Amino acid sequence: MIPSTTPSVLMQIQSKIQKFAVMLSSVLQLEVEIVDNALFRVAGTGVFGKQLGQRLNTNSKLLRYIIETKKDRVVTHSRIDPLCKDCSNKDKCEEKAFLGTPVIYHDQCVGVISLVALTYEQQQHINANIQEFSDYVRHVSSLFVSRFLQDQNSGDNIQKIFLTMIDNMDQGVLVAGNDRRVTFANQAALKIMGINPGNVVGKTLHFQPLTFEDNFRHGHMQHIITFDDRKELIIGQLHAVQDQWLFLMAFHQSHSSADFSSNQEEPQIEAMIGECRPMKQLKKLISRVAPGPSSVMIVGESGTGKEVVARAIHKLSDRRAKPFIPINCAAIPEQLLESELFGYVKGAFTGASANGKIGLIQAANTGTLFLDEIGDMPLTLQAKLLRAIESREIQPVGASHPVPVDIRVISATNQKIEQGIAAGKFREDLYYRLNVIPLRLPPLRERQEDIELLIHYFLHLHTRRLELVYPGVAQDVIDFLKRYRWPGNIRELSNLMEYLVNVVPSGEVIDMSLLPPNLLGSHEVAEEVPPRSAAAEAIQEASVTALEGMERQMIRDALSRYSNKKQAADELGIGIATLYRKIKKYELAGA
Ligand SMILES: Nc1ncnc2c1ncn2[C@@H]1O[C@H](COP(=O)(O)OP(=O)(O)OP(=O)(O)O)[C@@H](O)[C@H]1O
Ligand SMILES: [Mg+2]
Repeated sequence: MIPSTTPSVLMQIQSKIQKFAVMLSSVLQLEVEIVDNALFRVAGTGVFGKQLGQRLNTNSKLLRYIIETKKDRVVTHSRIDPLCKDCSNKDKCEEKAFLGTPVIYHDQCVGVISLVALTYEQQQHINANIQEFSDYVRHVSSLFVSRFLQDQNSGDNIQKIFLTMIDNMDQGVLVAGNDRRVTFANQAALKIMGINPGNVVGKTLHFQPLTFEDNFRHGHMQHIITFDDRKELIIGQLHAVQDQWLFLMAFHQSHSSADFSSNQEEPQIEAMIGECRPMKQLKKLISRVAPGPSSVMIVGESGTGKEVVARAIHKLSDRRAKPFIPINCAAIPEQLLESELFGYVKGAFTGASANGKIGLIQAANTGTLFLDEIGDMPLTLQAKLLRAIESREIQPVGASHPVPVDIRVISATNQKIEQGIAAGKFREDLYYRLNVIPLRLPPLRERQEDIELLIHYFLHLHTRRLELVYPGVAQDVIDFLKRYRWPGNIRELSNLMEYLVNVVPSGEVIDMSLLPPNLLGSHEVAEEVPPRSAAAEAIQEASVTALEGMERQMIRDALSRYSNKKQAADELGIGIATLYRKIKKYELAGA
């Protein structure tokens, strides 16, 4: 028999630690390796993502030193550094710089998080920020680890966390017993309901959800809360927690009740969050044009929600019960795009399937065809597409007769298509056909008013998905994020919130200390210089690259884990179409 050994504390929460490593690596733009105090590799990104759960096969004097002394260790120029002198792996080592930080739990070093530079840029990056990185990693890792270990080890702690959380929350919370009698209402809840504790504590509550279960995933569920003869329409989530009920009120009561249900003038578009003027106008426009047959072209930067809008239009149209077929024109190789779009008949060409194939345009018959990245469609196909739209019929490859089709075309692009027209890469006549109703999605930096709302929306979404406790957010974090330029738009905000709900301790507040130093760096300087100066522009540039770097790394990691791109896209929470475009943009292998 193999003797059984208890896994180390980090190994017990290995999958969580791995996720943490991936997120940390993307926000810091460095490779991450996490080992436990017996030098088993618990987690890693890139080349360090292999052989998880196995003991390292180097002599790792460096790591042992960190574990024994609980001190950071940095190697700024590997190989020539004296610390590397006796390393058995020295000749093969690809590491350019290394920063190891102990993970402390109950005063013990339970492992080491290493930030590793494999490129010259990363090396510079570590060298320029040694102390910031080290402090930051120490801080977030101890929070992260202790949260999961405490969650595992003790029920008492959960109750404590629970109460602290409620005490500190800016969010309205009602706690009720099994019998639905209120045991506690925090200040925020009292304020939202406009009552004193005496009006509610001890009263029996009735919760009546207003929306369908299906909508629950997309945001706060509205409830009518009744007690005595009072009726309150409050947006929030009802959670059964052991033998108690917890009603977590949404932060944005007024917004939400006005715009998600009672206001009949506003279109009800699920999962399209935005209350700023341009978004309100856009929603109105969408609801006006959705029922019609006209072609819509959506233009907006990456991550602004083009696909969300396309789906909303389809949902609000008479075609909602019919197929919505998205095609990414940039993702499909030119030689395949024609048969994908138009289909082919049997024997059309060598290698064609014996039964022929229905094209995506035909598959969208009576429904909506969503042509994403339309600017990347090759010229030859543009001619064919134009013919199909004008004549309402398509000619499958090798077919002798055209097939009639009834489709609504929505296209999207993040480039200025006019430039493509000027350069002779895009047909002007097709452009006019597709652009009957132009919709422009504003970048997030022009939607400052929406940022707070979106922060809470995504916190809600990710806490629910990950079954974590809804955290508070410090005001200075909100102020900072409002000023940030969000080159990756809503997707980037969503990614950051997902990361933050993972690192914030249960029931606590997301404060500035949790924001990645890359972002904070740009903030500190930005406050001292007037906006729009050359320096401010340079800073904005820097944060653009920082976040793009983060995105690139996340994508690269997902691609290394999955050979199937759909799975990789699912894990990243992006559409397959976007994945392909990003692969191209970041010149990642495997496009
Ligand atoms: N108004 C919104 N409210 C809530 N979530 C949104 C909103 N707009 C976009 N999102 C979310 O942001 C992410 C990006 O949206 P989407 O994929 O539609 O952007 P896109 O413009 O098509 O991006 P790309 O150009 O990269 O393809 C998705 O997770 C989406 O659910
Ligand atoms: Mg898209």
